[in-house]
Amino acid sequence: MKPFALSRRQMLENCIAKGTLAAGAVAFSQSQLLAWWEQGEANAQKPTSTEVLGPFYRKGAPNNATMRISGEPGFPLRVTGKVLNTKGQKIEGVRIGMWQTDHKGLYDVQGYRYRINLEVNAAEYTVETILPGHYDDRPAQHIHYLITAPGHKTLITQAYFATDPFFEGDPDKNFKKRGIVGNKELIRPVALYEGPGASRAAITFDIILETL
Ligand SMILES: [Fe+2]
Repeated sequence: MKPFALSRRQMLENCIAKGTLAAGAVAFSQSQLLAWWEQGEANAQKPTSTEVLGPFYRKGAPNNATMRISGEPGFPLRVTGKVLNTKGQKIEGVRIGMWQTDHKGLYDVQGYRYRINLEVNAAEYTVETILPGHYDDRPAQHIHYLITAPGHKTLITQAYFATDPFFEGDPDKNFKKRGIVGNKELIRPVALYEGPGASRAAITFDIILETL
């Protein structure tokens, strides 16, 4: 027989009924308190899952929101996202390191092409880049991330692309292929925008950090 377990809502209701929350909750009606509690539950988010750092990280990348290099080939990509804690609240003081290959699957191991260390304002970021290429060791297109923020665990992760031929048109089915992707939530849907001379792809990649 399973042990009886109270949900957090049931526990809260019991506390209200017994008056054990009354001293700290005099300004709230029961319904207000429950609404506040439920809002917190609705905003709760799982931390973004981690991935390997890989051998191509380099310190010292510039504080730029643009990785795309004017005149270089590659399909333009815009990456946007929020940086939140597990309660769904915005985080201040965030730095986002991002690095990726060029369109041919080559990392710049001497300079800072397709590498940034972005200071984030208002817990939201937008980065202009290109769709990364493929390389033999990790043949799914990806962008590496290293995210830091005061009072939070450093997160190392990667974003992948649902349109990548590596997933053979079905990332839900094929995300475990070759053991590259740890969590299919890291594979992002890709939106395509057509414009006169300005087609581009776009993904969103929200980052959820754990507090220390
Ligand atoms: Fe990589």
